[in-house]
Amino acid sequence: MEIIIKNQTKDIAIEVAKHIIEIVEQNPKSVLGLATGSTPLDIYRNISKLASVLKVSFANVTTFNLDEYLGPVAVEQSYRYFMHENFFKFLDVDLINTKFPNEELLEKYDDEIDKAGGIDIQLLGIGSNGHIAFNEPFTPFDSKTHIVKLDDKTRNDNARFFSNIDEVPTHAITMGISTIMKAKEIILVILGDSKVSALKQLLCLEPDESFPASVLSKHPNIKVYTTMDLFKKAFC
Ligand code: GLP
Repeated sequence: MEIIIKNQTKDIAIEVAKHIIEIVEQNPKSVLGLATGSTPLDIYRNISKLASVLKVSFANVTTFNLDEYLGPVAVEQSYRYFMHENFFKFLDVDLINTKFPNEELLEKYDDEIDKAGGIDIQLLGIGSNGHIAFNEPFTPFDSKTHIVKLDDKTRNDNARFFSNIDEVPTHAITMGISTIMKAKEIILVILGDSKVSALKQLLCLEPDESFPASVLSKHPNIKVYTTMDLFKKAFC
């Protein structure tokens, strides 16, 4: 696990965006694994800018998002809408090639990823309880795409995107931990004081299902980006 420490968040966003642009330039049919949340927003902005300036086409790129809410949720709160508003609408990506897990695809999502050739690069954030995608603590490391009941902590953390906590869905569908681990390359970005404890556990603990992100240290090609400020607080 390579840890890359930058002074500023914007330096992380630019470096990761450049890397993803290079991947798409080298292989216009790249398969990208994408995340929601506030962490990747600046990365998406930078990718969109670079794609436009450097004239890099995403027309033949396929994307697989990590997760999606289930149950009664306003369209504007869905992760598909989030991705469209923050990323897809700024690119020439073909929306047919932008995939999200859903109940119909449940059993097939992992196969769809395999059929597309596997994920070339997976972008990841982390929950304050160490979740990756929506794999909450004690999710088996060999899990595939599945339905989850969200932790109260996760619903509270995500309530900032809703008008009140009651609107936050109780369930979601998520790539499993083994699905994520099959990506050829993983970029995990950890930002903000609410993630100090998560970063500390990632750096200091052996892999254990009580802390889902800890599995990532077993991946052969993973980079973890954080800021110096956060790294100093999480140092063990
Ligand atoms: C949600 C998503 C995760 C994301 C996490 C952290 O729970 N399912 O994929 O990593 O939020 O979000 P943020 O980047 O806003 O802290």
